[in-house]
Amino acid sequence: METKKPDRTSFDQPVNHSQILPYGRQSLDEDDCEAVIRVLNGDWLTQGPMVEAFEQALAESCGAKHAVAVSSGTAALHLACLAAGVGPGDVGITSPITFVASANCVAYCGATPGFVDIDPHTACLDPALLETACSLHAPKVVIPVDFAGQPANLPAIQNVAQRHGAIIIEDAAHSLGALYEHEGHWYQAGSCAHTDLAIFSFHPVKHITTGEGGAILTNSPELHAKLLRLRSHGITREPGLLTRNDGPWYYEQQELGYHYRITDIQCALGISQLRKLGRFVERRRALVNRYREQLTELANDLTLLLEQPGKRSSYHLLIAQIQGGAARRRQVFDFLAARNIRCQIHYIPVHLQPWYQQHVGTRDGNFPRAEAFYDGCLSLPLFPAMTDHDVDRVTHALKAALAYSG
Ligand SMILES: Cc1ncc(COP(=O)(O)O)c(C=O)c1O
Repeated sequence: METKKPDRTSFDQPVNHSQILPYGRQSLDEDDCEAVIRVLNGDWLTQGPMVEAFEQALAESCGAKHAVAVSSGTAALHLACLAAGVGPGDVGITSPITFVASANCVAYCGATPGFVDIDPHTACLDPALLETACSLHAPKVVIPVDFAGQPANLPAIQNVAQRHGAIIIEDAAHSLGALYEHEGHWYQAGSCAHTDLAIFSFHPVKHITTGEGGAILTNSPELHAKLLRLRSHGITREPGLLTRNDGPWYYEQQELGYHYRITDIQCALGISQLRKLGRFVERRRALVNRYREQLTELANDLTLLLEQPGKRSSYHLLIAQIQGGAARRRQVFDFLAARNIRCQIHYIPVHLQPWYQQHVGTRDGNFPRAEAFYDGCLSLPLFPAMTDHDVDRVTHALKAALAYSG
């Protein structure tokens, strides 16, 4: 007997309170699975045609000239720093409200990670504070993070960074499909219109997934060529670059690179997922609207981190700031968890991590806005396959949690 598969595009399913509602998850359909199976049945599992096809589709989708797909967003950040020439003695500045990878990439290169506090309205790096930090530290790179899906103020950051000779790497792990406006024009996250390089992550909770995976985008042919070499051991086969040529098998390792390649299996999934990006982003935005409508009555207890004018967020995350401090946020978190609603906290400020305190010398209190943000933040469930009823389930539980903890 044929069993009917659940219709994953229907947003009107009944509520099941015993079901675990995660804060994020992938959305895969039959055609994603078929795309992967076609590669498994073919000749190339890795280093085949899917990688370049995915890179082209990604570059086109973001309006950048080049994309280099790699094994993770972290690998993308590491290679972007290496391509930017980050090395021992350099400083690389990012925001403390991010995943540790945005700062670790600087340390991987033997350089010193530094931080600039956030703009509390966006939780992105504050360009006004960047000016002072650049005067003090002359950073080699600045790594703004498009936090929660809203692009950082990239034109203002470019203005500061260029005057101080710093290269900009946009950490766009949260913002695939997002837009920002500058002087009457709209630009895509990852287009590198106001940055030198941009990176994405394709971890399952992100907008599209390849299982694990990432990419670096740039408009510079030189950076592109360097990234391709660094992705694969620093090896080149380009006849014009070889110091000698022993035959058709010959290659040279001319710099120290890494094995950060992605597979054709992953890229086939990436191509299939990228076709749905527009639909995924629209669904995320519709869910955010539903949350917003239902939570306005709680304005004294909770503020949502929403897009600012001149930004079109792709809402990787929907973050609520719970008024009343860390203890109340903890009560709300636990109340929801007991009802199988699994929220998350984004992020523990990076400068509070023990490794940073021991090796970089950061201290509690260094970035007070980031620490205040951390005390109240709560990431609510948000992913394209969520139903409208799932949102209602979260908002009802939130209202009860706030009443109980108030
Ligand atoms: C802002 C940010 N940058 C970088 C990364 C690293 O990406 P990946 O997990 O693909 O290595 C993440 C992952 O969560 C992230 O959130």
